Amino acid sequence: MLKLGVMASGRGSNFQSIIDSIKTGYLKAEVKLLITDNPDAFAIKRAQENGIEHLLMKPSDYASKDEYYSRVAEEFKRRDVELVVLAGFMRVVGKPLIDAYPMRIMNIHPAILPSFPGLHGQKQAVDYGVKVSGCTVHFVDEGVDTGPIIIQAVVPAYHDDTEESLSERILKQEHRIFPYAIKLFSEGRLRVEGRKVVVDAPRDELQLIINPPIQD
Ligand code: GAR
Repeated sequence: MLKLGVMASGRGSNFQSIIDSIKTGYLKAEVKLLITDNPDAFAIKRAQENGIEHLLMKPSDYASKDEYYSRVAEEFKRRDVELVVLAGFMRVVGKPLIDAYPMRIMNIHPAILPSFPGLHGQKQAVDYGVKVSGCTVHFVDEGVDTGPIIIQAVVPAYHDDTEESLSERILKQEHRIFPYAIKLFSEGRLRVEGRKVVVDAPRDELQLIINPPIQD
């Protein structure tokens, strides 16, 4: 069973989708630890309600960014975590954690990368006036949302969308593709070749994930 470590900064709905996917048996995994950088994160409540250990670790309590991420890596290693999942973690991860988990950290981003990296991907898409957007799960490297892409899902973007309406449409897809990406990893169906992730899955399965039927 794959041992997961999760980092989240806020609401934690992606964290919840992972918890739910484990509960239904879709994902054969176990969340060993949630680390959050925000004492008010609702993700903490979700951990408590599901009997998952959590730690509050604030970067401001550490001497440097490197020191912070070495300690984070230590906590995950101590619990034999095999894959680190960034579920709405609103910081750029530091090198010590990346070195401890090379191509073993996954992030979800609310845009079709490489468009609109960084914060507020959905607002960037609305302001730009694009007609499609979506979400991306990728492995984390030292850049900002630049690591090898595992899976993406597209949604339409309409001229009268607001940041909120587009975010809501994208979020539904986030809750599908993040557990899917973790499942692929847990089944050994992902192989990183340079910038590319080779995904061992049938075309028709990928097609449905990438281009799902949209209700609204
Ligand atoms: C999600 O939309 C996620 O893609 C985004 O924050 C939201 C967190 O929601 N992440 C980023 O923007 C990372 N740069 P959640 O806390 O309900 O999962």
